[in-house]
Amino acid sequence: MAQLWGGRFSKETDDLVYGFNASISFDKRFLKQDIAGSIAHVTMLAKQGILTDAEAGTIREALQGILTDVETGKLEISDTFEDVHSFVEATLIDRIGDTGKKLHTGRSRNDQVALDMKLYVREELQSIQDLITQVLHTLYEMMQEHLDTYMPGFTHLQKAQPTTLSHHLGAYFEMFRRDHNRLRDVYERMNYCPLGAGAFAGTTYKLDRDLTAELLDFYGPTLNSMDSVSDRDYVIEFLSALSLIMMHLSRFSEEIILWNSNEYRFVEIDDAYSTGSSIMPQKKNPDIAELTRGKCGRVYGALMSMLTTMKGLPLAYNKDMQEDKEVTFDAIDTVKDCLLLFDGMLKTLTFRKDVMARSAMNGFTNATDAADYLVKKGIPFRDAHRMIGEMVLKCIDKECSIEQLTLQELKEISEVIGDDFYEAVSLKTCVENRLTFGAPGKEAMQVVLKLNKAFLDRFDQDHKSKKEEKKDE
Ligand code: ARG
Repeated sequence: MAQLWGGRFSKETDDLVYGFNASISFDKRFLKQDIAGSIAHVTMLAKQGILTDAEAGTIREALQGILTDVETGKLEISDTFEDVHSFVEATLIDRIGDTGKKLHTGRSRNDQVALDMKLYVREELQSIQDLITQVLHTLYEMMQEHLDTYMPGFTHLQKAQPTTLSHHLGAYFEMFRRDHNRLRDVYERMNYCPLGAGAFAGTTYKLDRDLTAELLDFYGPTLNSMDSVSDRDYVIEFLSALSLIMMHLSRFSEEIILWNSNEYRFVEIDDAYSTGSSIMPQKKNPDIAELTRGKCGRVYGALMSMLTTMKGLPLAYNKDMQEDKEVTFDAIDTVKDCLLLFDGMLKTLTFRKDVMARSAMNGFTNATDAADYLVKKGIPFRDAHRMIGEMVLKCIDKECSIEQLTLQELKEISEVIGDDFYEAVSLKTCVENRLTFGAPGKEAMQVVLKLNKAFLDRFDQDHKSKKEEKKDE
């Protein structure tokens, strides 16, 4: 057992207590962040004359060495330490002796862990944004390809009006675009550095918190040291953004599962993204979509768990907050896996355009357009609605579609109906004439696609400049 705080204790910690209290099994993920935080801290301590430059240099080099040795497998993070912070400090002292004991000057594990968690979440938030961008690119390409792929649109899961696959996919483009922006909002609010808050009341050393914030790429230091160590709002906001991503993925998954079903047959999931049944040889199951739908529960669970953990916590740091890590890590891993796999599944889907178009043609999806035809001929909409209702009833009786009625039959409904009716209620006209901004008509879609492209170009540009900035450092 290796802990940082033995001095005041006259008895060894009970083994069970030690295990219950320890966080090393999961916070070892923070090694990189912990070391980055410590390097910034000692750099600042030296600049402030609290450590000598030589001491800071020795500590920095040794910290870098610890990171490299763990990354290359030369050094193992042993679970005998209480947490990653203890592991780093003890290894440092082991390697450089007394100088290592100066690392924790003017710092507490409370501001240290608050910083590590922020650095970790900040980094993962950005890689989740990158994965969303990837999905958006995939969707954009599919939208371009399927501007003329007609399909029924549904309300209440009943065929409603015809639309295109491009338009349907465009709805998901909007959801993921909002998810991307939402993560950006979280980033903007969270990007302030808690380091230097100490246990909760700052320290009597003359720390330069602006410098550590700058070294760690934050907008600036947090303004209240009590809040700094006890704030996990950003974790909750982040988990809430992740929950929405999962909610969107689960809705999309559900549609793919439906479309892949024997009843719909709109889509064929690639063999590489399906699995079989151990008993039914004919089965090809949409497991990736189902798992994505199912894993939503874990991420919502993480959000609920953190909201509940933080509820009623008095200021400032409480050990309850150690519970932030496992659920957040699990949510991050889940969302990343789901986005990655979902993107692969999307890219390899094959759509049965003929089945989709046929499906759009039955189920009276052109009934609204038939009513609109009558309106254009001078009949008030409410009357037109009733007349087309009667027309549909007639079709149900005859087991045919609206456009299969003869002109004679149509005229029995209304005298104003002429030959041009057939063209007006054709699938192509019904879709292409829907030109309201945001609607499925091709021209309307092309305007939105241009905006989507501009949006993606901006992401890509931001991403490139961030990468270049990193290279320059
Ligand atoms: N493992 C702890 C956590 O995750 C680190 C902070 C410990 N601070 C303390 N005062 N015991 O929150």
